Amino acid sequence: MRFVVTAGPTREYLDAVRFLSNPSTGKMGFAVAAAAAGRGHETVLIAGPVNLPTPKGVKRIDVVSARDMLKAVHASLTGDSVLVATAAVADFRPKVCSKRKLHKAEIARQIELVPNPDILKTANARFKVGFAAETDAVEASAAAKCRAKGLRLIVANDVTRPGAGFAADTNIASFVSPDGTTEKLPLMTKRRLAAKLVERIESWS
Ligand code: C5P
Repeated sequence: MRFVVTAGPTREYLDAVRFLSNPSTGKMGFAVAAAAAGRGHETVLIAGPVNLPTPKGVKRIDVVSARDMLKAVHASLTGDSVLVATAAVADFRPKVCSKRKLHKAEIARQIELVPNPDILKTANARFKVGFAAETDAVEASAAAKCRAKGLRLIVANDVTRPGAGFAADTNIASFVSPDGTTEKLPLMTKRRLAAKLVERIESWS
């Protein structure tokens, strides 16, 4: 199969040096790409700014903003690809971005934001898999997202639980289907979770 995986945060610049972002480290997406390539699948990894080595056998494309990531995903996807979106894409970006560093006095106290495109929702792929970090009503909101974005599966996790979430090496996740069917998984390394996910995707082909 052919895998396209998004990973890491995006940065949405306000001027030459200031940006909106989030603490995503890219670990989950890099683990998915490593697992897919390790099992012999052609794998493209589209990564926001992260500090991780490229997994063996993976073609990596580095991007900065959500719009860059969207372009790279569209350029990399073929109709028979599987898209696994683990990236923590910034939902909004500043409406205006200055090419130079603004002086403190020039920065407005209210910054106008505009929505970023939803990369996963607008992508065309054979199978789409999303990730959902939630803090409440985890499974119900994940199933709703799965339907809204046309996904085959969403990996949901409660980021308030110890051992789950952004910088951790482990995750506590559930595989949630569009109809709400949920498989709760125990605490495991992101590497193990990635392997399980790739095996699940292989079972669909
Ligand atoms: O709607 P929410 O951001 O919770 O959805 C999370 C899923 O959608 C993740 O798989 C994420 O990578 C993807 N996503 C995306 N583009 C966005 C927002 C989210 O691909 N702009």
